[in-house]
Amino acid sequence: MRAEKLLCSHRATIREVMVCIEKNGKGTAFIVDDEGRLSGIVTDGDIRRLLLEGYGLNEPIQDYMKKDFVYASTREKAEEIQKKFNYAVRIVPIVDENGKPVDYGEYNENIHISLAQPQLSGNEYKYLMDAFLSTWISSTGKYLSRFEEGFSAWCGTGYGVATSNGTTALHLALAALGIGTGDEVIVPDLTFAATINAVLYTGAKPVIVDLEEESWCMDPEAAERAVTERTKAVIPVHIYGQPCDMGRLCEMAKRHGLYLIEDCAEAHGAEWNGKKTGTYGIISCFSFFGNKVVTTGEGGMCVTNDKGLYERMRILRDHGMSKERKYYHEVVGFNYRMTNLQAAIGTAQVERIDEILKWRTEVEKMYRQAFQGIKGVILQRDDLKGRKKIAWLVSILVAEDRRDAVLKHLKETGVDARAFFIPLSEMELYSGYAEVCRVSRKISHMGINLPTTWEMDREKIQRIAELVTEAL
Ligand SMILES: Cc1ncc(COP(=O)(O)O)c(C=O)c1O
Repeated sequence: MRAEKLLCSHRATIREVMVCIEKNGKGTAFIVDDEGRLSGIVTDGDIRRLLLEGYGLNEPIQDYMKKDFVYASTREKAEEIQKKFNYAVRIVPIVDENGKPVDYGEYNENIHISLAQPQLSGNEYKYLMDAFLSTWISSTGKYLSRFEEGFSAWCGTGYGVATSNGTTALHLALAALGIGTGDEVIVPDLTFAATINAVLYTGAKPVIVDLEEESWCMDPEAAERAVTERTKAVIPVHIYGQPCDMGRLCEMAKRHGLYLIEDCAEAHGAEWNGKKTGTYGIISCFSFFGNKVVTTGEGGMCVTNDKGLYERMRILRDHGMSKERKYYHEVVGFNYRMTNLQAAIGTAQVERIDEILKWRTEVEKMYRQAFQGIKGVILQRDDLKGRKKIAWLVSILVAEDRRDAVLKHLKETGVDARAFFIPLSEMELYSGYAEVCRVSRKISHMGINLPTTWEMDREKIQRIAELVTEAL
């Protein structure tokens, strides 16, 4: 009986309960009556308070123990018991049908590790309140230009057009390039659906291609094989923080006269050949969703060095309205504007982006150490020539037939991990646009993304590595 070492008779003195707590190492004693039924709980904090108040060690505990305590019954499920914990209740006695304590539930530090809680402790609140109090809460206000200029400069590009989210950024880029019905656009099989959906919004036909085995990014050879006379653009996606082979993709795009649009949603600050991703595309698109490296809650941005495209995107973002003549529309545009409130958060995030990335790199390093020597776990490569990946989530591969068991084990323990994206080619909605993508399917079925939430530390990471290993 696991509860045994926590039991003390209600006839015990404060001193005897202290000894029990000292020995059991759980910081708690369960006080039982002569029939062995639970009648009270005492924690080491309770004892400390009694002594500070001047009570003697030989006083009887039953006069001072907690009688209105939290407990559970053996009939309750683990999830129900978990709900009973709070900042003060760390141990919950579990009693049988006679009220006798037989076990206890213990608060597990590793429960509730979210996937990617953002870090908002810089000037985010201050700027957000400033924007709020200014009453410029829609899509006009000083933070919009500050954010656009700050983020695009950090990327190393001349112009930024902030959008309502990363999906609208992709659509805006395609629309500004005049891509539409009759055109083809090449996309990778392993990506979030936004990449292909944005192509479909334009009326163009997406053409899905397979990945490189090592980088999990779009395979430049597969992309080249997919080029036809109708191909207008290619959208490499820097998946899970890993930059694509921009050397070969840019060269291929140039040779065939294609527009190259980078999908940088998951790779803020990743580099190819010492230059940031986002600087290679004619337009590059970012997402600032809550789980991204830089976040504005929802949000996105197109960055470019092309002034004409910049101006065109600004018009299309705002219903296609002329900048010279209010309410005069020359093209069918969209409302893809970002609000000043989002931009206020983004402005503060940009101030600390290098610090955020540095910290994420540390988290990834701790994961690499924790998984060192563990057979059956393959970490995303960080040593590919010419590529400097960033730590967005921490991505691993395990055997395909154990992947779901690992995810289940993590979920049951409260760790918010995610399976890789389902390959586009495996979904009925998109499969008509793809050949069989062997590499993408293999990687997708083995892949797990682990948390990089702001609260990560070595202990939590070690625990996650243990949990993964237990389920392999
Ligand atoms: C690769 C990729 N592209 C595009 C997007 C779309 O961004 P958003 O969610 O901001 O619309 C995401 C978002 O999660 C993404 O992961």
